[in-house]
Amino acid sequence: MEERTYYFNGRYVPASEAVIPVSHPGYRRADTVFDTERTVNGEVFRLEAHLERLFRSLKAVRIDLGLSIVEFAEVIREVVRRNEPLLDAYGDFWVTQLVSRGPHRNVLEPSPPTVTVVVDPLPFWRFAHLYEQGAHLVTPSTRRTAPEALDPKIKTTDRLNLVMAEIEAKQVDPEAYPLLLDDQGNLTEIVSGNLFLVSEGVARTPGSRSILQGVTRQTTIDLAHSLDISVVEQDLQPYDLYVAEEAFVTTTSFCVLPVARFNGAPVGRNVPGPFTRRLTVAWSDLLGLDIVAQAQRYADH
Ligand SMILES: Cc1ncc(COP(=O)(O)O)c(C=O)c1O
Repeated sequence: MEERTYYFNGRYVPASEAVIPVSHPGYRRADTVFDTERTVNGEVFRLEAHLERLFRSLKAVRIDLGLSIVEFAEVIREVVRRNEPLLDAYGDFWVTQLVSRGPHRNVLEPSPPTVTVVVDPLPFWRFAHLYEQGAHLVTPSTRRTAPEALDPKIKTTDRLNLVMAEIEAKQVDPEAYPLLLDDQGNLTEIVSGNLFLVSEGVARTPGSRSILQGVTRQTTIDLAHSLDISVVEQDLQPYDLYVAEEAFVTTTSFCVLPVARFNGAPVGRNVPGPFTRRLTVAWSDLLGLDIVAQAQRYADH
């Protein structure tokens, strides 16, 4: 298969030529922020919202990308255009921008950032079967990084917190997604997605204090409103998920997935629950493609 093309510090290069030295601070101490979109029929979905979040992450960690949102959006679209010959084989792309502070001797010494835009296959195989079966969420002992330590609203590659959570959950069930608690014991998020549960006919989701503010989460809230589903942002505890009528998780790759079990206990009576079903249809309508059929079609690729 043809090699992918990446953007690497101002040039479009074959993926194998985008190489960073091991001395790089982005590698040595995860001094890097990133964002990830997916394409829909080859177009980057919600690019502006993702770039606004990326620029907020950059601002919070004091990295100057050196390009405006509009200029960087054009670079990203160009990367996708250059990879178009692979689209049939992939179905759609995952598109990721990574921006590191770049080589420097002193963090306050300005140095050009290291900027990359990469395209990957969407991991349909990981979740295609879960649209019907539902996901298993497991609470690890590792807590989500407290905002006082490193704000989870910053999308950084410093993810050892999430990796440890994933190891713990997958040692319980290799298919499980870890659902991390915050330092107060409130539900936060899964390693790469946000949580909603339904009780008393209202969709409830943790507020933004201890989570990454998912673009898919916000789109799901907007879709819920268009379906006359009320959404409340509030503190939620494990109890709320054990007794929920249904639950689902959201992220860029799968959009929305039902939750079937929480720490081994069934969640709700039917999987997917009625709200999850309606939102899955609404997501497919918004994207103009059947997200479940696409995932199933490409799961073996
Ligand atoms: C920690 C975390 N939470 C939530 C999300 C979901 O964000 P989005 O819906 O913008 O993909 C992600 C995405 O990768 C994530 O890494």
